[in-house]
Amino acid sequence: MVKVSATSFTEATAQDWEVAVANGRRHYVANAGVAALNLLKSQKDEPGLSWQVNNYEHSLSAATKALRNGEDEEYVVAVLLHDLAQDLDPMRHDRVAGTLLKPFLNSANHWMVANHQVFQLSFRVNSKFDTKKVETFRGHPYFEHTMRFCDLYDQSCFDPRAERLPIETFEPMVRRIFGRVQEQRMGSYP
Ligand SMILES: [Fe+2]
Ligand SMILES: [Fe+2]
Repeated sequence: MVKVSATSFTEATAQDWEVAVANGRRHYVANAGVAALNLLKSQKDEPGLSWQVNNYEHSLSAATKALRNGEDEEYVVAVLLHDLAQDLDPMRHDRVAGTLLKPFLNSANHWMVANHQVFQLSFRVNSKFDTKKVETFRGHPYFEHTMRFCDLYDQSCFDPRAERLPIETFEPMVRRIFGRVQEQRMGSYP
């Protein structure tokens, strides 16, 4: 990759900016989604805390189930990445994931990812958690969409015997979902 000789923005020439912007545009489009995948992959060898699967395995198990159930590609990607921020901020990992994924998902899938923590509380039988907290969201247009996700692809995906397709199965999907948006956005990169 051609590099500019300027060592600060103020000394960069118009030609330097042409080179830098073209390089950036190519890189961001070619690598769309890779950073999100890397964040998920960073959890690969973590211990499973109290559960029999770790968060990485939970995510693959959930995405595999969504794929097998015939969910569309964007939805499968949302399922795969819904917990990618678990270690960054466990108590707000849904919000953080929602912020990261917002540009790449439709509004229903974005809202689902960004709010799933309260919804999955509903399934915590025999716990001291407030299982009724979700009621504050009742009536929201994406209530059922998010509840369905938490039932089918979150609370029920901690079984170590469940099928887990390898991450390589999902990588092209993530790249496509991120890539379609990144390409558009890069069009306005100055
Ligand atoms: Fe979660
Ligand atoms: Fe989850």
